[in-house]
Amino acid sequence: MSVGAVIAASSTGTHATHESEGLDSILERLNPKAKEKVLPLLKEAYPEIKIEELLGKGGFSEVYSFTYLEEGVEKRLVIKLSAGEKVKRNMRCYNLTREEVRGEWLALLNYESKHVLKTYQAIARDSEGKYVLVSDAEVQEIFENPETDATVRYTLIGTIGEYIEGATDLAKQAFSKKNVTEEEARKIIKKVLKGLAVMHKKGIAHRDIKASNILLSREGEKLTVKVADFGLSRQIVLPKEGHRRNLSNCGSHGMKAPEMLETGVYGLKVDSFSTAVTLLQTAKRTWNYLRAETKDEFKESARNPDTKKYLTSFFSGGLQPKTFAIISLLSTYDDYDRPLPEEILIDASLWK
Ligand SMILES: Nc1ncnc2c1ncn2[C@@H]1O[C@H](COP(=O)(O)OP(=O)(O)OP(=O)(O)O)[C@@H](O)[C@H]1O
Ligand SMILES: [Mg+2]
Repeated sequence: MSVGAVIAASSTGTHATHESEGLDSILERLNPKAKEKVLPLLKEAYPEIKIEELLGKGGFSEVYSFTYLEEGVEKRLVIKLSAGEKVKRNMRCYNLTREEVRGEWLALLNYESKHVLKTYQAIARDSEGKYVLVSDAEVQEIFENPETDATVRYTLIGTIGEYIEGATDLAKQAFSKKNVTEEEARKIIKKVLKGLAVMHKKGIAHRDIKASNILLSREGEKLTVKVADFGLSRQIVLPKEGHRRNLSNCGSHGMKAPEMLETGVYGLKVDSFSTAVTLLQTAKRTWNYLRAETKDEFKESARNPDTKKYLTSFFSGGLQPKTFAIISLLSTYDDYDRPLPEEILIDASLWK
């Protein structure tokens, strides 16, 4: 039975579908093998842990907010759990060493940026089958210290990170509610670029920038923006290597940079390109910026290098000059000429 079918079957009467589902039932559904071990671990670390709300679902995981008690005070965090059998298929089992740490593990590094979603702990299984909580400090230590010879092989079961009051992802806001203005879209993208610049400083490419991986909350004039979902993140700048690597083609249709599609040798600038497409989609309030009739048609066009070459010609009508300029620069076909996030942020006239 599919995950969706189980959730639907468990819904009762007028209650919100997911609110009644407890942590044990979620674990049972997503990862029955881990349930018996992970549940006590979480209960000990988070007294009175209680699932609050399903915040979202991606291709490989489910994300919930939960409450717990810390010295009698109720606190709220977010738990992201992978679906068991998919974990294996995606090889989310890595040696946690400086050279190999990747994917969601990279969410645990110390970015010190208010524009990168903070993750505090990983829930993992070690090579002896023991379930453990790995702290952000431990992952940071291994990442920073090339001599670390951690041979423990961890399989990532999930992560625990910060809860942002009232946050939803940009896709929900821009495409479903259509309540993001073009000016606001530029403000959001500026913050995304700031978050990316901090990741890039550590040599890490996000590789999956798109509206559904950007979290947004508004409070009056205050706009909180966080880059989330490190599922595809990868170190590009390795200590002994250059600024481009031969890596796999990954990410979502329409968002991938031409060099990733054409040569497979790419660098941090793939994130600039995906950010350009995200701004275009957000400003146009549709993921389907090509105006394709069907999803297949969209995929086909998005794969076509000519589409990438002339990305700007697809939207020449209707956009404000600043939006147009930012998209044109970030989607520059040749990555050699394309600015990095930190470079385009320097041009103050674009962001006023
Ligand atoms: N901290 C959060 N606050 C509110 N909503 C969140 C939060 N984290 C995630 N979400 C929601 O859950 C959705 C899925 O989360 P995320 O993108 O991290 O997982 P995913 O796409 O399944 O990841 P992966 O591709 O690695 O499997 C997001 O698009 C967003 O709507
Ligand atoms: Mg996602």
